[in-house]
Amino acid sequence: MKKVLYPGTFDPITNGHLDVIERASRVSDVAVVGVILNPSKKPLFTVEERVEMIKKVTRKINNVEVDCFSGLLVDYVKNNNITAVVRGLRASMDFEYEIQMAQMNARLYDKMETLFLMTRSDYSFISSSMVKEVFHFGGNIEGLVPNEVLEYMKEKTKK
Ligand code: COA
Repeated sequence: MKKVLYPGTFDPITNGHLDVIERASRVSDVAVVGVILNPSKKPLFTVEERVEMIKKVTRKINNVEVDCFSGLLVDYVKNNNITAVVRGLRASMDFEYEIQMAQMNARLYDKMETLFLMTRSDYSFISSSMVKEVFHFGGNIEGLVPNEVLEYMKEKTKK
């Protein structure tokens, strides 16, 4: 069984992420979305909220599972029989960062495989931080995040 992992912070999940998830699910038996507890980032949403949002927006894709993890990516890969890790590449600036991570991971675990999917051009400029910033200053983020996520964002800013 080919089980791939798409790891990330997903604070929050955007339509760019969703596009990668849909495509990863088409080329695998199971696509696991792994939400990381990243100590170097200060997320707006808790891990539980991020997992909940991803479950909602991927509910129609039968072979998608959502999980969360902390610690090294290679440990999750080893312990959960992951065939390959999937990452999306938006632009050349992603490439520098991604190649470093892929090579470090391969050094830590020789069976580690990283597959890259080129982001669709309509989503190549999106990042979670930018979506949050635009929303914070009252800009329109419709079409950049799933509608369910927009509702979570409105709810969060009310609090
Ligand atoms: N659409 C929209 N946004 C995208 C995107 C896409 N297709 N692809 C990347 N992004 C954005 C994200 O929104 C995120 O934006 P932000 O910084 O504004 O939040 C940014 O690109 C990158 O974030 P993400 O993909 O979530 O990765 P990350 O850098 O937060 O984490 C991990 C990547 C989880 C793979 C990495 O941190 C990791 O492996 N951690 C575990 C610890 C470990 O093993 N470390 C050693 C690794 S060598």
